[in-house]
Amino acid sequence: MLPKAISKTLAAVIIAVVVIAVVGGVVAYWYYYSQQKPAKLVYVVIGKSVHPYWSVVEAGVKKAGQELGVEAVFWVPSKEDVAAQLSTMDSYIAQKVAGIAIAPSDPGAATPYISKALQQGIPVITIDTDAPQSDRLAYLGTGNYKAGWLAGLVAWQLAKEKGYVRPGATIKVAMLTGSLTAMNSLERMAGFKDAIMNCSQKDPDIKGNINIEWLGPYNDQEDPTQALNLALSVLQAHPDLTIAFGVYAYDGPAWAKALKQAGIPPGKVILVEFDVTSDNVPPLQEGYALVTIGQRQYFMGYYGVKLLYNMTKLGVEQALKQFVPGYPDNKIYDTGVDIVSTRHMEFTAPTGERVTVLSLDEYKSLAQQLGIDPSLLGLS
Ligand code: BGC
Repeated sequence: MLPKAISKTLAAVIIAVVVIAVVGGVVAYWYYYSQQKPAKLVYVVIGKSVHPYWSVVEAGVKKAGQELGVEAVFWVPSKEDVAAQLSTMDSYIAQKVAGIAIAPSDPGAATPYISKALQQGIPVITIDTDAPQSDRLAYLGTGNYKAGWLAGLVAWQLAKEKGYVRPGATIKVAMLTGSLTAMNSLERMAGFKDAIMNCSQKDPDIKGNINIEWLGPYNDQEDPTQALNLALSVLQAHPDLTIAFGVYAYDGPAWAKALKQAGIPPGKVILVEFDVTSDNVPPLQEGYALVTIGQRQYFMGYYGVKLLYNMTKLGVEQALKQFVPGYPDNKIYDTGVDIVSTRHMEFTAPTGERVTVLSLDEYKSLAQQLGIDPSLLGLS
């Protein structure tokens, strides 16, 4: 027989061991099963700046996330910020998310990050603005050269209507943009310029006998305050400006504010905006902006997440084959644009193209038909 004190101690030790074993077992069991439970898939969409334009993309991202039952994260820097975009992408690569869609402000700088993600098995697509030299799997967004070209055709038509296109006249055109590296900005400006130069050569009223003076491009780095200041200084130096082009969403509104502040009557300068948002509609309604090129950015967010999800579920090749017409030769899904003004217009450009401009009401019905809530676009 053990002495009483020793047997008591032994009993306590045995109880302690049993308690530790039970608690440990429960913890191990809980840990094991929590590791086994499939985590929610995470998809990340990286935009370019804070603006109602991007809020519409975000709405598409969230809707797709909801429908698929996955986590769809949307992130933008406050203004153009290449470093912040890429460090954010890098941290999501480290978290091993299921897919990334990025609108690279600088496609060259983004390329190694895109390769890094792909090497780790994370599919990457571009939206809104492309990085075609990278290995991105597809681009989902506006065909920006064509969109800029259409903007140029309409600007020319409006200049004709106002009597600015006359033999020997000078037409001053200024372009205000938020990036000199992002491809969407460069392509839009190139398309716009080519359209105007083509029209000036082909227009039977002048047959090239006109002087087109190009001002800018002025770069505000997606900063609306800087955009306004630049627009004001251009108008101060060139009060006889003929055409103002707002390349990014907030550029048109910045021109409109500057025109108002400079005391230039609405409609005198032909202001062409990009996008239909709560920021872009008032300048149209007030008559400062005469037309805008509406992108379908809701679908960049919505289909962006859906395409990445399908890549997880079906495999990259299968998902791309289903979604991108002409894949693998073609890796671009053009979300399309609409030309919008306060009134419906139809005309044939000097280049021979037939152009239709939708009124705001027509555009609102179109948005409804497409399943985009018009209030998201500033159309109540
Ligand atoms: C462009 C985006 C840009 C946004 C800025 C849009 O027109 O497509 O790339 O970030 O304007 O507000």
